[in-house]
Amino acid sequence: MHPSKSVSRRHFVGGATTALAYLGLKPGADLWAQGVNRLPSPYEQEVDQYDAFAKLHFNENPYGPSESMMEAMNMAFKYSNRYGYPDGDIREVIADHHGVPSDHILLGAGSGEILKVVGVTFLAPGKKVVGVDPSYGSVYSHATGIHADAIKLPLLEDFRQDIPAIVNATEINYRDVGFVYLCNPNNPTGRTVSADEVRQLLDGIPPDVPVLIDEAYHHFVEDPTYATSVPYVLEGRRVIIARTFSKIFGMAGMRLGYAVARPEILQRMRPFSTGSINALVKWGGVAALADNESEKRVRETTLRLRKQTVAELETLGYPVIPSETNFFMVHTGRPPREVRTDFRAHGVLVGRPFPPLLEHLRVSIGTSGEMERFMTAFKEIFPVRASTAGSSTG
Ligand SMILES: Cc1ncc(COP(=O)(O)O)c(C=O)c1O
Repeated sequence: MHPSKSVSRRHFVGGATTALAYLGLKPGADLWAQGVNRLPSPYEQEVDQYDAFAKLHFNENPYGPSESMMEAMNMAFKYSNRYGYPDGDIREVIADHHGVPSDHILLGAGSGEILKVVGVTFLAPGKKVVGVDPSYGSVYSHATGIHADAIKLPLLEDFRQDIPAIVNATEINYRDVGFVYLCNPNNPTGRTVSADEVRQLLDGIPPDVPVLIDEAYHHFVEDPTYATSVPYVLEGRRVIIARTFSKIFGMAGMRLGYAVARPEILQRMRPFSTGSINALVKWGGVAALADNESEKRVRETTLRLRKQTVAELETLGYPVIPSETNFFMVHTGRPPREVRTDFRAHGVLVGRPFPPLLEHLRVSIGTSGEMERFMTAFKEIFPVRASTAGSSTG
């Protein structure tokens, strides 16, 4: 938890109060007295229940926005009633962050919107997206939703993505391929694709096939063979990089993501995007990119807790797929649906099934308290096996 978090939360509520003051409402006004500031009790109960769970199921950042981000968002409440307002030049700030011109950036309500917009832009009935399975499934669901198809290739034995197979499938189906999807690092396995393999992919497929490279977990990677693929955009390749403020910056509930791509590609995508990002998150995003200290703290804490938890699990005899993200997959040998129910009974929420990996469980890294609760529950649910410490699967 950010040490100053409780103060931040008070500021945030303070911001809401300030916003009401702008509208001429005060906490003591009629509206307030009618209970606008209080949640009716059924919701209160729901909120309490939600708060009580250790939430290790959505790869969220448990700390939330940093102090400086909260301050920026509080300030931006005053724009709540506007369509046009100063937005901190969020697009320019992101462009500078990557060293690209601002016409290379398209904002989305989370990178989820970007993934969807890429689908709608480059697929159509009969068109295909090529990628591995399991990966971030939304991309394949969107394809199905618009009556396109997905060519889903199996992972390698060590759970890495099979780049030669992706190249091959793209070549064979060239006429029908709308785009290739590469999640790097991959969700749900946490494994990276090396910079050399990304080049092998881009050089191996026909140059006019767009490649969507999803770097949602970029900030957690330590693997020295990995590199962001943003430079390929400046090389003029048909790549679209998707990034999010949901993970390292803790703004999943606020919704901000973006695409980095050539302007002519973004031009095709723009008509399908809502173009509707709220004032608060724009200012929060600007503050996030300036707050390197908080980013470093989240990264270091997350990686430390992941390594500690993985080591404990392996000592108990449960192998873990090597991860470069804020989550990992542990081989429990039992169906995740059953295991989820067991964990839920212990007040811990863990990942859903990711077929065909039906003996693995995905666990997100929460706070140290949440990870302790996870380990306590794990030891109650699973028997001790022979140690696999130092012999991770892959
Ligand atoms: C790989 C990947 N891409 C994209 C997203 C979407 O994130 P958001 O829409 O919050 O930016 C997620 C969310 O978990 C993800 O895991």
